[in-house]
Amino acid sequence: MNHFTTLLTLCMMSLTTIAQENPVYFPAHQLTTVGAYYYPEHWDESQWDRDLKKMADMGFEFTHFAEFAWAQLEPEEGVYDFGWLDRAIAVAARNKLKVILCTSTATPPVWLVRNHPDILITREEGTRYDHGSRQHASFSNEYYRSYAMKMIAELAKRYGEDERVMGWQLDNEPHSTVDYGDDALKRFRIWLKEKYHTIEALNHAWGTNFWSGTYSSFDQINLPQHRQWGMNLYQRLDHSRFCDHETSTFLDEQARTLRQHISPRQWITTNFIPMYDARFIGADKELDFITYTRYMVYGEHKGIGEEGYRVGEYTRIAMANDYFRPLSPLYGVMELQPGQVNWGTVNSQPLPGAVRLWLWHVFAGGSRLTCTYRFRAPTYGFEQYHYGIVGTDGVTSTSGGREYQQFIDEMNQLRAHYDQQQPPAAYLNRKTAILYDPDNSVAIEQNKQTHNWNTEEHLLKYYRALKSFGAPVDFIRDSTDFTRYPVIVVPAYQQMSHSLIRKLTQYAENGGNLILSCRTGHQNELGHLWEAAHAEPIYELIGGEIAFYDLPQSFAPGTVEMEGYKYRWNSWGDILQPSGTTESWAFYRDLFYAGKTAVTFHPLQNGSVTYVGAESLEGDLEQAVLRKVYNRLEIPIENYPPGILVEYRDGFGIAMNYRDSSYTIELPAESEIIIGNKEIPTAGVLVWKTK
Ligand code: GAL
Repeated sequence: MNHFTTLLTLCMMSLTTIAQENPVYFPAHQLTTVGAYYYPEHWDESQWDRDLKKMADMGFEFTHFAEFAWAQLEPEEGVYDFGWLDRAIAVAARNKLKVILCTSTATPPVWLVRNHPDILITREEGTRYDHGSRQHASFSNEYYRSYAMKMIAELAKRYGEDERVMGWQLDNEPHSTVDYGDDALKRFRIWLKEKYHTIEALNHAWGTNFWSGTYSSFDQINLPQHRQWGMNLYQRLDHSRFCDHETSTFLDEQARTLRQHISPRQWITTNFIPMYDARFIGADKELDFITYTRYMVYGEHKGIGEEGYRVGEYTRIAMANDYFRPLSPLYGVMELQPGQVNWGTVNSQPLPGAVRLWLWHVFAGGSRLTCTYRFRAPTYGFEQYHYGIVGTDGVTSTSGGREYQQFIDEMNQLRAHYDQQQPPAAYLNRKTAILYDPDNSVAIEQNKQTHNWNTEEHLLKYYRALKSFGAPVDFIRDSTDFTRYPVIVVPAYQQMSHSLIRKLTQYAENGGNLILSCRTGHQNELGHLWEAAHAEPIYELIGGEIAFYDLPQSFAPGTVEMEGYKYRWNSWGDILQPSGTTESWAFYRDLFYAGKTAVTFHPLQNGSVTYVGAESLEGDLEQAVLRKVYNRLEIPIENYPPGILVEYRDGFGIAMNYRDSSYTIELPAESEIIIGNKEIPTAGVLVWKTK
C-alpha cells in the first residue's frame, strides 16, 4: 500500500510547475509584492503627492485606483473625463508605485440609473434597489452589461498600453445578483433551454410529476420564489447556478473587452470573497488569475482563548489559500484588513501583531500579491470609522500601517535569501486533497434533513485535522487529476455520477487512499435519490452497505467508540454493514443501534477507502480516523495543536500562532531561522530557511 515514491515525484513535479508559472507578471525572486488601495477622488488633489510618497516610503510597491469611480470617469453619458486619473497615475509613477486599475462596474452613475431604472436589481418581493449605495445593478440586465462594456473599452483604450499600469481588477467582490427583472427572466429561460434542450428533459430533471408541476413550454417557467414554501428544489438549484453563471460570464465579457485594447503585459483579475458555495469562483474562462479578499476581526469569530476574537479564526486564511491556489496557481489577496473595520457586528481592535500574522499567512499559502483596503482612513461616507494604513489625519501611520511596514521590511529581508528550494519531502508526502463541489453545499442547504447539520462546519472538521497534521491541502474538483494526491478526503459529496464513482474506484485500486464521509453519493448528478438501496452505487467502493441513516435530536447526542475513546455526535450517522475484507473501525455505543459500525476501512487492491458514517460534535472522531489512516499508510504526520499552522513555500518554512499562549516548535535539523524564535508568541510568526 506504500506507493509514495511515485506520488512524491508527481507532487514535486506539480509544485515545480506552480513555482515557475507566469514569471512575467510576478518574478519568482520577488516572492510577493505589497500594495494599498487609494481613492484619488476622495481627497484634495494637493494631497495626492504627499499620500503616495508616504505609501512608497513605507515600502508599498503598487497602488489601486478607480474602483468605484464610474461617476468621475463618465460624468455624463458618453462624456469621459480621464484627466484626474491621468494625473493620479503620474503621481503614482513619480513615486515609483505601479498601478492596478479597476473597471468601476460596481457603482453605476446616477444618470445611468435614472435613464435606465431597469438596470437596478428587482428583489423577490418586487421592490427595486436604488442609487446611493453600490452593487445595485443586475448582471442579468442586458443594457447594463452592454453599457458597462463601452466604459471599459474607453478605459482600456486610454490605459491599455500604459507601462505604469500593471493590471486590471474587474468589478469589486463580484457576487451572484439575484434579480427578478425582465431580462433576468428572459435569460433564465434561454439558459434552461441551452441546458435541457427539450421541456421533457427539464420536466424529468426537475421531477415535475410531483405536485402537478409539469411544464409544456420554457415560456411557462418563472424565476423561482425561494421564499415560497415547497418551491421545486431543482428549479431553485438551477436558478442559483444560473445566477452564478451570469456573474462569471459578465466577468469574462469584461475581460474580453479589455483584451481588445490592452497589452499582454497587463494582467486581468478580480477579487472574490471566499464563499464556498459560490460556483462562479474559478469558473471564468478569461482571467489571468484570481484573488480573494479577507477580513478577520468583525465580531463573528471567537478564535482561541479570551482575546482570540482579536486574532481571528485560523482556518479562514488557511482555507482561502488552499481553495484559491488549486483554482489559480498564481493567486493573490486583493484586500486584507488593516485594522478595525466599520461594518461588523462588533468592530474590535485586532490584537497587536495580528495584522502582520495575516500578512504572513497569506504569503505562506503562496500568494504573489497582497493589497490592503485601504491607505487612508475615510473621514466621510458609509465606511467612516474604517482603519487605513494612515489615520483620519491622512499622515500618521496606524498600528496596522506599522505592521504592514514591518512585513514589507521582512519581505525584503526574505528576498535576499531566496534561492528556489523545494519544500521538505516529509511535507510533500502528506499532501492531501479535499474533493469539493460548491453545488453540493447549495443542494444540501436546500434540503438539510436536520438543523444540526452545517456543511462548512462538516468540511472544517476534516480540514482542521489535516492542518494539525501539518499537511499541505488542495481543494480539488472532479475533473482534477486525482493521481497527484496520496490521500483524498471526500466530505459530504452528495451528488455523484456513475463516472465519478468509477474515477474514485480506479484511483483507489491504483494505490490512492480515499476518506469518504456521511452524506456522500446519496444522489445522482440530477440530485435524485438512486432508485436502489440508499447510496447503493457506492457500496462496492466502500466495501459494505449503509443499512440506514439517523439524525438524533440535539438534546440527545449519541456516542461512537473507536479504540477505547468515545466521541459524541448528533447530526448525521450512517449505520454501516461492512462486507468481505472491510474492517469495522468504530461502533455506535448507544441508541437503538448500539454495536453497529460507524466507520469502515476497505483495503481496495493497491489503495484503500475509509468511510466515516458519523459526524462528531467536536471534530475529534474525524481527526482520530484520519490519524489512524495516515498511520496505517505509514505517512509521517505532525501533531500541532489547533491554531498552529506550518507551511512551506519557495524554500522557506513559516509557522504561525493563532493560539492564546506561546508555542515552541521543533524545526528540522539544519534550518536557518530568518525571522522570529522557536518560541512563537500569540499572533507571532517564525520563518526559517530549509537546507
Ligand atoms: C470589502 C469591499 C471593499 C470595502 C471593504 C471594507 O468587502 O470589497 O470595497 O468595502 O470591504 O472593509
